[in-house]
Amino acid sequence: MNELTNEFSELYEQERRRLRSFYDSLGDYASPVFGEGDINSKIMLIGEAPGKNEAEQGRAFVGKAGKQLNEMLELASLKREQLFITNAVKFRPIRIAKSSISNRTPTVKEIDSSLYVLKREIELIQPKFVITLGKTALTAVMKLTQADLSFTALKEIQGVPHSICANGFDFILYPMYHPASVIYNPVLKEAMEMSLRRIPQILVQCEV
Ligand code: URA
Repeated sequence: MNELTNEFSELYEQERRRLRSFYDSLGDYASPVFGEGDINSKIMLIGEAPGKNEAEQGRAFVGKAGKQLNEMLELASLKREQLFITNAVKFRPIRIAKSSISNRTPTVKEIDSSLYVLKREIELIQPKFVITLGKTALTAVMKLTQADLSFTALKEIQGVPHSICANGFDFILYPMYHPASVIYNPVLKEAMEMSLRRIPQILVQCEV
């Protein structure tokens, strides 16, 4: 194992231990999902949190979400193996109603307490280009970098590259919709596809 791989293992072990200390029924803390992909990549993609399939398989973006992600990446002429893929929150946030368990959006408190892992992942990867999928991932990155993108709705800044150079961070932030939010909305889907098609050119511009 090289030094970088070691750093990731230690970080994820620390988070595994932290999650083991939780005893509420708000999350699947026993099956966290951590970052994967090319640890030497200059492109990082950040999702929200694992869902059921991810928690079962221990991998980010698998099953339906994985298929969707691959289709998205194809429009950007990218393959998932070329990126480092992670989530803002590493455990599956759940809601238990009657006897069924469903996914839910992480709370602000859950995003905040998970920030230290995302921060370290960014420090270790040192990406030049960071794609955030949805509001949770964008919120987490803005908190970490103290970037003030001053927007009221994601549609104002999705697909717009933002230069982040503060707090020791230096990368282009590319906010996008969460794939799950565009499925049933053709307008958002078209906007997202246009944003994806612009990525190769932006990568050339930022010398990735
Ligand atoms: N799967 C993930 O790993 N993250 C998401 O945000 C959605 C699905």
